[in-house]
Amino acid sequence: MSNHGKQDKANSSAKRGISRRQFLSYTLGGAGAFMAAGMSLPMIRFAVDPILQKKAGGTWIKVVEASKLTNEPQEFKFKIHQVDGWYVSDPELTAWISKDDSGNAFALSPVCKHLGCTIGWNTEKNNEYVCPCHGAHYTKDGKNLVVAPKPLDEYDLKIENDWVYLGPIKANTRVK
Ligand code: FES
Repeated sequence: MSNHGKQDKANSSAKRGISRRQFLSYTLGGAGAFMAAGMSLPMIRFAVDPILQKKAGGTWIKVVEASKLTNEPQEFKFKIHQVDGWYVSDPELTAWISKDDSGNAFALSPVCKHLGCTIGWNTEKNNEYVCPCHGAHYTKDGKNLVVAPKPLDEYDLKIENDWVYLGPIKANTRVK
């Protein structure tokens, strides 16, 4: 083979080497970008969805007519519609709703702050919430008296057109 022929061959394999490298970098780069987009788009959606849902307003649930409320706590059950990604459910929740001495309505969560059992009102005829599991006691405002380390949680509550609406659960605001 002449010198000229050797040079041609070297040039063409150099060209092939570069084009192979370019091909690989485009392919891998493209696949990487595709995978990154595939992973990050659901994450962005996951982060943004609750904000959009809140803006759409659906966090208040119509529970009971305000005229049905009494000073004595009553148990009310209601369903919430939950969409968590692909999982849709309608769990039933419970609230103990009553009015205070000024006539203001408030709603407490039935979940005991000791280990999460369900409390009941006045089950020992002492005008207190009592947990059957380990004997926690709470006042009508949800103040923890024995066993439980914290007051009962409270629901956000609003009254519109004589209906009681409940919102998300929050820490008790009635007990200092
Ligand atoms: S879970 Fe209620 S007292 Fe323990």
